[in-house]
Amino acid sequence: MKVVVLTGAGISAESGVPTFRDANGLWEGHRVEDVATPEAFEASPHLVHRFYDARRAALAAVEPNPAHRALARLESELGERLLVVTQNVDDLHERAGSHRVLHMHGQLRSAWCLACDERSPWQEDLSHGPACPTCGASALRPDVVWFGEIPYGMDLIENALGDADVFVAIGTSSLVYPAAGFVRLARMWGARTVEINLEPSAATSVFDEARHGPAGELVPAWADELLGAVRAT
Ligand code: APR
Repeated sequence: MKVVVLTGAGISAESGVPTFRDANGLWEGHRVEDVATPEAFEASPHLVHRFYDARRAALAAVEPNPAHRALARLESELGERLLVVTQNVDDLHERAGSHRVLHMHGQLRSAWCLACDERSPWQEDLSHGPACPTCGASALRPDVVWFGEIPYGMDLIENALGDADVFVAIGTSSLVYPAAGFVRLARMWGARTVEINLEPSAATSVFDEARHGPAGELVPAWADELLGAVRAT
């Protein structure tokens, strides 16, 4: 059985990482959509760096929750038959023990040099204009995919969706494309599709099955069911 899991901000909510579109959705008075664009970075690089510096720094205070750990457990049994595609820029899947994680929207703990095009693991702030470890230029940007940019790994993701028997979307509002369209692709190519989210998302009606509630409870239960089915075959 081949499984593709798509995760969004909701899987990290119980770890204390804020989602993008909660009741308030603002950061220092700015809409997230207004800070997460190449145009915003060009116009106000310091502001955009500070937004991501704050998010990167906040990672030090959070830990994976039972939903991340359940997916790591699934990978330890399914191995290459499981791919986690995440829209999240945090590293909680990896810290829970997952290895097969594709960060389609990039990662906070990576910096991308606009001078030499190298990406480097990064833990510190970027707003003070540190030097690129490869070329020395002060030209690092957060290695995250902004609105209007092309997500990472699309070919690999589409191949995996084409092969999947099961597609599960966890903790995503299904408002941002292309990720929001994965359920339709997976369905078209024959996968059974399941949504796990706190509340109905914009795409709930497209899924074969929807389970609504906190990911920290529902994901471990779903993973146990899936492993039971795998072991029975
Ligand atoms: N368990 C399950 N789902 C939850 C939980 C929880 N504990 N808490 C919140 N959710 C759900 C919310 O109900 C919401 O539907 O998670 C979803 C989070 O939605 P968004 O904040 O829109 O996050 P996401 O879908 O990941 O956003 C997609 O948009 O801003 C861009 O690039 C950014 O990757 C992000 C993309």
